[in-house]
Amino acid sequence: MKRRIGILTSGGDCPGLNAAIRGVARAAYEMFEDVEIVGIQDGYRGLIEGEWQEMKRSQFSGILTLGGTILGTARTPFRNMRVIEDDKVDKVKAMKENYEKMKLDCLVTLGGNGTHKTANLLSEEGLNVIGLPKTIDNDIYGTDFTFGFHTAVDIATDVIDRIHTTAASHGRCMVIEIMGNKAGWLTLYSGLAGGADVVLLPEIPYDIKEVAKVVETRAKSKKAFSILAVAEGAMDKKEAKMKRKERDALRAEKGFNGIANRVAKELSDLVGVEARAVVPGHVQRGGSPSAYDRVLSTQFGVHAAQLIAREEYGVTVALVGNTITHNKLSEIAGVPKLVPQDHQMVQVAKDMGISFGD
Ligand code: F6P
Repeated sequence: MKRRIGILTSGGDCPGLNAAIRGVARAAYEMFEDVEIVGIQDGYRGLIEGEWQEMKRSQFSGILTLGGTILGTARTPFRNMRVIEDDKVDKVKAMKENYEKMKLDCLVTLGGNGTHKTANLLSEEGLNVIGLPKTIDNDIYGTDFTFGFHTAVDIATDVIDRIHTTAASHGRCMVIEIMGNKAGWLTLYSGLAGGADVVLLPEIPYDIKEVAKVVETRAKSKKAFSILAVAEGAMDKKEAKMKRKERDALRAEKGFNGIANRVAKELSDLVGVEARAVVPGHVQRGGSPSAYDRVLSTQFGVHAAQLIAREEYGVTVALVGNTITHNKLSEIAGVPKLVPQDHQMVQVAKDMGISFGD
């Protein structure tokens, strides 16, 4: 059996991308008598611009533990895929032509929600596409977990742990900004794992006065410090009623510089506590994948190779319960998986006395 497989990684990177690439490649080399793998540079940008390389088997060695992606990545927004911009390039036509030029049997796309939307578009255009769900945000519909998420939870939890000790020494209120613009999974998991007192998520708009009550009560008690895990995309109840543009304009007018800085300032004004903002940022996406993510990425990669063997395309790999399976791209593309307000984890946190500021 012969297979010529294209692979690309698109969107924000995360730990586990190389482990997943290795999983696809190693399983393909095991399964097929004749396999050629084409590495496409910087995601859809490379597919549009025709930048790729024939990979050697040795290039897939020694990458299991490596962070980032050996193929490079870029954000190529889905909303512009069918738009002819100043460069006059018809991006969809270019991607289809380059797929033909590379003589691919199929294309494996590793990415998040945006990547999956374009993967679905290409599948509808007749290409043989298989997706692999990666993102530290864990917001891809139809899979319990994406790879990269658990590593980011470990990193964010470590940040919270380290902040905990210095917060306690100084009796300060520490506001830690966790990545996640639309989805609060990373904040919810790391907040619970790190023993945060307050968790603010994009999905559960907060009232700063409710948050202030928690901090004030703790400040008056012997526990003079507070730990707040705040998602990058958290918003207050007033803002939640606004359209995104309106909200951004209001924030710019008020001179807000990120949610952690803002919440820290508001709490020091309202309660008079000494508050500090901590923004770990892209640290949460860097470095080696955790053991969990190495295993998950490998399982996902191998499942993709099994799908290639069966010529089953137009799908993305998923974890459901303890089973590695797959979903139709058409059914999951463009459907973000957000934290339901009544999610069991939210209830667990509330039962532990964690406040969501709602
Ligand atoms: O999607 C992953 C993510 O890290 C989000 O949590 C975050 O909002 C965004 O990417 C940051 O994007 P960039 O790396 O382009 O700054």
